[in-house]
Amino acid sequence: MGVRFDEQNKMFHLQAGDTSYVMQIIRDGYVAHLYWGRKVKEYRNSNYLQYLDRGFSGNPYQHKDDRTFSLDTLPQEYPAYGSTDYRKPAYQVQLDNGSTVTDLRYYAHSIYKGKRPLEGLPSTYVESENEAESLELIMTDAVSGLKVVLTYTVFEQLNVISRSVRFVNEGTATIKLLSALSMCVDFRDAEFDFLHLYGAHIKERYIERRPLRHGIQSIESTRGASSHQHNPFIALLRRGTTEDTGEVYAFNFVYSGNFLAQAEVDQFNHTRVTLGINPFDFSWKLDAGESFQTPEAVLVYSSEGLGGMSRTFHQLYRNRLVRGSHRNQERPILVNNWEATYFDFNAEKILDIASVGRELGIELFVLDDGWFGKRDDDLSSLGDWFVNRMKLPKGLTDLANRVRDMGLQFGLWFEPEMISVDSELYRKHPDWCLHVPNRDSSEARNQLILDYSREDVCNEVIRMLTKILASAPISYVKWDMNRHMTEIGSATLPPDRQRETAHRYMLGLYRVMETITSSFPDILFESCSGGGGRFDPGMLYYMPQTWTSDNTDAVSRLKIQYGTSLVYPVVSMGAHVSAVPNHQVHRMTSLEMRGHVAMSGNLGYELDLTKLTNEEKDMVKRQVATYKQWRQLVQFGDFYRLLCPFEGNNTAWAFVNREKTEAIVFYFRVLAEPNAPFESFKVKGLDADKAYKVIGTNEVFGGDELAYAGLSVPNELKGDFQSYVWRLTAI
Ligand code: DGJ
Repeated sequence: MGVRFDEQNKMFHLQAGDTSYVMQIIRDGYVAHLYWGRKVKEYRNSNYLQYLDRGFSGNPYQHKDDRTFSLDTLPQEYPAYGSTDYRKPAYQVQLDNGSTVTDLRYYAHSIYKGKRPLEGLPSTYVESENEAESLELIMTDAVSGLKVVLTYTVFEQLNVISRSVRFVNEGTATIKLLSALSMCVDFRDAEFDFLHLYGAHIKERYIERRPLRHGIQSIESTRGASSHQHNPFIALLRRGTTEDTGEVYAFNFVYSGNFLAQAEVDQFNHTRVTLGINPFDFSWKLDAGESFQTPEAVLVYSSEGLGGMSRTFHQLYRNRLVRGSHRNQERPILVNNWEATYFDFNAEKILDIASVGRELGIELFVLDDGWFGKRDDDLSSLGDWFVNRMKLPKGLTDLANRVRDMGLQFGLWFEPEMISVDSELYRKHPDWCLHVPNRDSSEARNQLILDYSREDVCNEVIRMLTKILASAPISYVKWDMNRHMTEIGSATLPPDRQRETAHRYMLGLYRVMETITSSFPDILFESCSGGGGRFDPGMLYYMPQTWTSDNTDAVSRLKIQYGTSLVYPVVSMGAHVSAVPNHQVHRMTSLEMRGHVAMSGNLGYELDLTKLTNEEKDMVKRQVATYKQWRQLVQFGDFYRLLCPFEGNNTAWAFVNREKTEAIVFYFRVLAEPNAPFESFKVKGLDADKAYKVIGTNEVFGGDELAYAGLSVPNELKGDFQSYVWRLTAI
């Protein structure tokens, strides 16, 4: 386990969980990638590299007499631009003479126990040195003095390798980074499918899978946020890989801003995968002695299909990405007033909703947008983080105390990265928004973005938020972000650093979030960006849960939550029951189904509880009581996807505890079908040697029977939008 270096063959063998990853220092210090996949005990180069004379693949200068050696055909760990490799490089720099050619060679390496944090950036971590081992591979460019440190960490128990890169300018002249990706893997074939998560607002993380083709396939964000449109995740799947079988190579970026994830299939059917900060509109000036740290990429290997991949991500992110006291704590059931009132509320209305919430067993009331400045719509007040006395005449402290006195916790919404033109803050500091000289700043949702690349702006935000959070008994914060960047520029950066703005913004944001979350360690933070527009591991490092989508329709949510679960743990997904007709898609679904979908995540309610009928209240009360019994399993159990909403009319998933003694199986049917075929599905994740009792009916089935023969869907489900739950306990 860990990192081994074979001095004689100059070979690094990294072992993580059930995975091996092998590279070798070859002639003249090039570092070649040899293998990544299922663990091999001893790697002896059985799949040795073959050097062949390939036309139009030139030979690096020292090898001008060897027509078989070309970087164009060599699988590499961190390829440069400018010599004989014509594929996309992992990085590119511009030297002070204007040239953009560099040539990295092995210089030194070190291996150490554990894993070091990345300064100022989110990253996975270990709690004891024995959980992981790390390798730092130092490569240098002799001409410029550029040093590049490739860091690899292998987790002992998980099929996870994390990677990041540090650039150090050890030369005497300034260097400009034009591209600085966090990783590259060169596969020696292209027999893969390319899978990624695409979407839009209220339609996040839909799964798309297609055969990998020659040329470049990429997804990216240029929006200043990881985005609804593409999640910073891609996977290569061996053809024929399913939910349960086959090999998956997955890549996820621990970053919340612009990214590029790319697979390039070349003329020889080799595949190069790279992932990192989007080089588009990015550059970074490195004066002599300065360094630049890339964010982290998480690489997961699974030989057990997509399900195995997801459970690895879930385990890693639940335990070694999310931090703080809430990490292992059951999350409270909340009621949020957004879809209940939008901007139209006062203290009385809030207390009425909270009071019914309490009656129904709900544990936390969240006051959403509109409590501050003079905000009665989305036209004003972002940045004015002081209470709106028209709506809450007795102030926030009074309201929070009254909610607390009822026995509920109190939570509050913020959108701290934004500024309305109609705000006191903007009138005082018109240059505090992202903008470029001599051009108007485009608005989106009537707002501009604060320039978090500036220290003074970040400090003022920290001051304002701290004041509010310290002023009242606040247990939860929803941290929203409702527009993407345009006219990206900063008033304080010099012209040759303007293209650093978007990344400096992210560094500023991470500093603000680190400061606020560590000053208020007991507050539960939930991130949000128009729903799930920034559902990424970068945000999860600071805030253990994310509002999955502004779409609260139960049917839409099946796809959204299913797609999200590919990478992100269920405990990180906010899932609320809302009113019907649904506000986003106007669909009518039963309260039961809405409950079951929301109980498959972090349960909450987002509707006017005072308008429920008595029967509805009874049902909500039952849902809340049931979820309290189930949530340990839902939030911290292993997640198995059973039926896929992207492939058919039905969805099913199961939560199973570690000991495989308890399980909850959810089934959802979207539309009723005439003369529907007999329906059953296989329940995965159970122990084949155990017998399970179905709570309620007392039927007993073996884990093997449920897995191999399957479970029949009861006939009593009639009509559209049906759901059913089985609670299984081992006997
Ligand atoms: C977008 C969020 O996703 C919603 O839940 C709500 O908080 C609104 N913003 C408020 O403006």
